Amino acid sequence: MNTQERKSHWEKIYETKALTEVSWFQPVPQTSLSFIEKACVPKDAKIIDVGGGDSFLVDHLLELGYTNVTVLDISNAAIVRAKQRLGEKAKHVNWIVSDITQFKSLELYDLWHDRAAFHFLNNDADIEAYVQSVKTHTKSDAKLIVGTFSKEGPLKCSGIEITQYSDRSLVSIFQEDWENNEALTVMHPTPFNTEQAFVFVSFSKRG
Ligand SMILES: C[S@@+](CC[C@H](N)C(=O)[O-])C[C@H]1O[C@@H](n2cnc3c(N)ncnc32)[C@H](O)[C@@H]1O
Repeated sequence: MNTQERKSHWEKIYETKALTEVSWFQPVPQTSLSFIEKACVPKDAKIIDVGGGDSFLVDHLLELGYTNVTVLDISNAAIVRAKQRLGEKAKHVNWIVSDITQFKSLELYDLWHDRAAFHFLNNDADIEAYVQSVKTHTKSDAKLIVGTFSKEGPLKCSGIEITQYSDRSLVSIFQEDWENNEALTVMHPTPFNTEQAFVFVSFSKRG
């Protein structure tokens, strides 16, 4: 998929499916929150949730006192939904509509989080663009948290193919610039009473 095809796909998803009609819905993103807590970044750290969509992660981060949160997503409709849900609180969040493979910014983030966006990149060029983007847009002592479908998880999400990862294959993708801290396999209960196997890996940037 090229950027335009990806964008059309995701705009349509967020324009036609309600919050609880998508498999990735989770009212409390507990695994992400635990990994973020363990990263031990200060409350004013620059945190970016890549492919954040209308996830509740940002609500919880604000509630926990994090003051510099950015949500990036390819879908404007997703960002509009998240902003509407947050109401006044949305003013305290930075919102970016961009394909992450095309993202260019002078901002340097302390913590990069991605749950279920990276795995949609299925070719070497897009994966390399993502790896370079994480490197370019993070500080020298940054933390990275990536969650994808595991080898035991689904092969598709929202009707499109994903790339499955093991903890080892995720580590090998990022190992040039990032040292692995922790890896965890978790089952995500979907709103349809099914389960999806995810692998989460956390990293610290190599000095
Ligand atoms: C399965 S959803 C996960 C949403 C959110 N991270 C969560 O855990 O609830 C994937 C999200 O990634 C976004 N996305 C997919 N490809 C993207 C890309 N190339 N750049 C930025 N966002 C992308 C989609 O719009 C969607 O919001």
